[in-house]
Amino acid sequence: MDKAILDTFDKSLERCTSRSQFLDLFYTKFLASSPKVREKFKDTDFSRQKRALKASLHMILLAAEEPEKDPGRYLAEVAERHGARDLDIGAELYDFWLDSLLETVEECDPEFSPEVRKAWEEVMMVGIHYLIVRYNA
Ligand code: HEM
Repeated sequence: MDKAILDTFDKSLERCTSRSQFLDLFYTKFLASSPKVREKFKDTDFSRQKRALKASLHMILLAAEEPEKDPGRYLAEVAERHGARDLDIGAELYDFWLDSLLETVEECDPEFSPEVRKAWEEVMMVGIHYLIVRYNA
């Protein structure tokens, strides 16, 4: 992927994660987005979940550097966990995930712009696409 896009994403991620409310705001929005999402997270320890999500955003960035190589190098376990045989996260739930994330970035990144939004969309789609493709694996 284009280095400028990766760099724009990386810097925005840094600005977002330096704000303490970033991950809380994301999960507040994501849980509010659909009863199906709330049902999936009914027994979740959100302190751990926030750490896991933060780590996976960095892993998606690594996968997006060379998406033509196997993103499973960074995302295989996350994909297996979200697949039909485990958490069973269907493709329709990823729209709620991405919309909630983009809204959160818009509110948390003081340098938010159309370019920043595009960088988040492009980088996150590498991860989302991989998780959806691996759903039945
Ligand atoms: C690309 C998008 C996503 C990423 C990067 C992501 C990342 C993660 C990570 C890293 C974990 C922790 C896995 C572990 O415990 O080892 C997790 C767990 C989980 N994710 Fe996702 N996720 C994504 C999309 C979704 C979506 C769309 C849903 C839909 C509801 C979802 C629901 C869950 C649930 C229910 C858990 C388990 C929580 C628990 O342990 O109680 N995720 N996710």
